[in-house]
Amino acid sequence: MAPANLIDGRAIARQIQGELVQRIAALKAAGVQPGLAFVRVGEDAASKVYVGRKEKTCAELGIFSETHVLPEATSEAELLAMLARLNVDARLHGVLVQAPLPPQIRSAVIYATVRPEKDVDGFHPVNVGKLMLGDPTGFHPCTPAGIRELLVRAEVKLSGAEVVVLGRGNIVGKPMAAMLCQKERHANATVTICHSGTRDIRAHCRRAEILIAAMGVAEFVKADMVKPGAVVVDVGVNRVSDAAAKGGSRLVGDVDFAGVQPIAGKITPNPGGVGPMTIAMLMQNTVRAAEIAAR
Ligand code: GUN
Repeated sequence: MAPANLIDGRAIARQIQGELVQRIAALKAAGVQPGLAFVRVGEDAASKVYVGRKEKTCAELGIFSETHVLPEATSEAELLAMLARLNVDARLHGVLVQAPLPPQIRSAVIYATVRPEKDVDGFHPVNVGKLMLGDPTGFHPCTPAGIRELLVRAEVKLSGAEVVVLGRGNIVGKPMAAMLCQKERHANATVTICHSGTRDIRAHCRRAEILIAAMGVAEFVKADMVKPGAVVVDVGVNRVSDAAAKGGSRLVGDVDFAGVQPIAGKITPNPGGVGPMTIAMLMQNTVRAAEIAAR
């Protein structure tokens, strides 16, 4: 039997997708099928897996999707030209460019080019600004939005909570902190962001009632860094070499799960925690983009 303190991301993601089925049916009854384009550049192995999962979920829900795979050597101008076409394609309500991009392409330029109305990733400066301002008309990045939803549905109290976010990336850490410190329902937390320049990360972690690990360091969070009873969310996906594993490597999170699970109040498994929620939030953003376009 699974330990009682696990937060089941797969089950919660399924529940959210179940809620989307009716909204998609209503759109279809009004003559609109939600549509999402994926753009993948190069052969990053993890990106292939992630985009594959997103495509599969679209198909299950009846969201139209198309995937454009461009070679590793694609220029920034070529990718911009593709986005110009996708931006005006009326079948598409969302356009997602999978990160990471090869070094000759500036991601900031790319993410500023996707029309904000189709930016279901929430990476466009307009949507980032709206998140900071607490303006609900924007799109929130899928991974932090999924973590918030996971915490809310697991009945973790956010208002007044001491939250520590490990990592300051634009995809998870920074938007996560911005979301949880808003003066609004399901937020209103006291948030600390720790990063590679933080002096005593352990001391910060030990104060946290909710600890969100998103810095991309394999099994960084150990039992002695966690306050007993804390809620621990593991966002990390790190490939580590292991001669005993199939293919010579395996995936681990940013949390030493075996050590931390016994003392955590609640903890996300990894896999099966945050990952499925990212996809559910992408589907939700796409359905919402279609609803707004259909008005
Ligand atoms: N790479 C890792 N996470 C994400 C995400 O949420 N969106 C995109 N586009 N790329 C990613």
